[in-house]
Amino acid sequence: MHGGPFHVMKRLLLLVLLALPAVAADKPADVVRYRQSVMKAMGAHMTATSLVVKKQIGDRSQLAAHAVSIRDLSAGLATFFPADSSPDKVKTGAKAELWQKLPEFRAAAESLRVEAAKLAEAAKKGDGRSFDAQFARVGAACNACHDRFRVKDSD
Ligand code: HEC
Repeated sequence: MHGGPFHVMKRLLLLVLLALPAVAADKPADVVRYRQSVMKAMGAHMTATSLVVKKQIGDRSQLAAHAVSIRDLSAGLATFFPADSSPDKVKTGAKAELWQKLPEFRAAAESLRVEAAKLAEAAKKGDGRSFDAQFARVGAACNACHDRFRVKDSD
């Protein structure tokens, strides 16, 4: 007889094997590199914005783009700190405490997202004064998380 239970099992096994590479975990060292790169990108947006806020650059046309980038990057931040990327397993500038206080860490990431969204709104409205005030709050949201969860001398 053709297509008996054994045949079905072989097909299932083949499907499982084909699916394996897709579920293989990212290497912890790569995860650290990735999140550090995202952090650096946010840092570059902050530096560029600060040059405009300090009026060393007169063109304010990119401010919304910087704010939206920070907002969008921060929304995914917490997912790039899996358990196997803590300092006891891989070299990282993140403190072990981060994995003991995940709800607080996620709240800190969410706080940045909310403040950056407000910054993007202020840029859209073109209200320079409220933009500059909100920019300080975004910087404070970065620092609040770093103070708790990042090793001090890591930069
Ligand atoms: C929710 C917590 C959190 C928030 C919010 C946060 N960071 Fe970080 N940041 C970290 C942690 C943790 C590290 C260390 C990551 C590592 O080394 O694995 C880090 C590292 C960095 C680094 C160093 C990257 C490197 O190359 O080692 C920079 C730069 C940085 N953050 C910039 C920012 C800026 C700018 C903001 C705000 C726009 C921000 N971060 C917001 C947690 C946060």
